[in-house]
Amino acid sequence: MADLVLKHLKKTYDAKQVLHGVDVTIPDGSFVVMVGPSGCGKSTLLRMIAGLEDINEGTLTIGGVTMNDIDPADRGCAMVFQNYALYPHMTVRQNIGYPLKIAKMPAAERDRRIQEAAAILNLTDYLDRRPAQLSGGQRQRVAMGRAIVREPEVFLFDEPLSNLDALLRVQMRIEIKRLHKRLKATSIFVTHDQVEAMTLADMLIVMNAGRIEQVGTPAEVYRKPASVFVAGFMGSPAMNLMEATMGADGQVTLDVAGGRPMLRLAGLAEGTPLTVGVRPEAITLMPEGADGLQATVELVEELGGSRIAYCALKGSEIAVVLPPGDEPYEGRQVTLSFDQRDLHLFDRITGLRVEIEPSRLEKPQRTKVAAH
Ligand SMILES: Nc1ncnc2c1ncn2[C@@H]1O[C@H](COP(=O)(O)OP(=O)(O)OP(=O)(O)O)[C@@H](O)[C@H]1O
Ligand SMILES: [Mg+2]
Repeated sequence: MADLVLKHLKKTYDAKQVLHGVDVTIPDGSFVVMVGPSGCGKSTLLRMIAGLEDINEGTLTIGGVTMNDIDPADRGCAMVFQNYALYPHMTVRQNIGYPLKIAKMPAAERDRRIQEAAAILNLTDYLDRRPAQLSGGQRQRVAMGRAIVREPEVFLFDEPLSNLDALLRVQMRIEIKRLHKRLKATSIFVTHDQVEAMTLADMLIVMNAGRIEQVGTPAEVYRKPASVFVAGFMGSPAMNLMEATMGADGQVTLDVAGGRPMLRLAGLAEGTPLTVGVRPEAITLMPEGADGLQATVELVEELGGSRIAYCALKGSEIAVVLPPGDEPYEGRQVTLSFDQRDLHLFDRITGLRVEIEPSRLEKPQRTKVAAH
């Protein structure tokens, strides 16, 4: 059993606190993906789990054993880095076997493990080559092999695919998923790639400025972002966010667009500052003058399978995902139409999600904003 329990982990570098108390339980055998902006503390947290950084405060247990003061080599963790750091003068076989040699494992057992890892990673034919004679994807697999031979209970991946080109990334992503199904070792994977995060994770951890913002399945995080930060961070193109205020009549009213009422909601004090969010794929473009928000299409990006229209709405820009097609939208006046049930609401002071109970919506059908 290798479930990880992080209790109030803190880290300070030179009087600057970079982790402010991280609490999370990672179940045995799960594949957890950690995302967050640059500098939010993802690598620091992985390194603390691996034992490469001291834990200033809090406890880390793996499989029920407190690891704070345990040597990195005895934690049962293997880490794979963005920079594979292979030894150029060693063969693939020697690179993969290096951690076992350091651990003074007998040669026969070492060879068995190298062969097994090479078979899993399709590297059997390359064992006698040196890193310079390999492609980027093959080098990456050697780095994974070096982690696998240690038969760790926990894999820690710090952006392992970011040096690969787009096609290889997709292939390696699928290989890593397969590898996890086969080895079932608890895995924590850091990435900046939205698709990697959504497709690989059983559980997603969204971090911001040294704190966890949300933990959940990819679908939960996408459908019910816990904060305005998560709403803006997960999803590409990002969720459209508009400032709004709770009106006297119980209507949440947009601050732009002539104070458009968006939805009626009970239970919030008049004047409460809010942020209304709507995903680009939840908006439909309708002809000018229809029921909804009036806007101008400024730019359309062609993505092949879909298009993205960027629409100007009283100083803010609203992204809309369009189905494929040739209709020239650029420069047109349009109506942005969406379902009230696809709106997300956040408290603008705390940044936290305000749950919209379906029963609290005034009218559940597809028209969205009351006509003026
Ligand atoms: N050895 C160190 N000494 C001082 N400060 C450090 C050290 N390592 C990291 N930091 C700081 O700690 C913060 C978190 O860094 P960390 O590398 O964990 O971020 P990250 O989330 O992995 O970012 P990225 O996505 O860019 O890799 C940053 O502000 C960084 O400058
Ligand atoms: Mg990092």
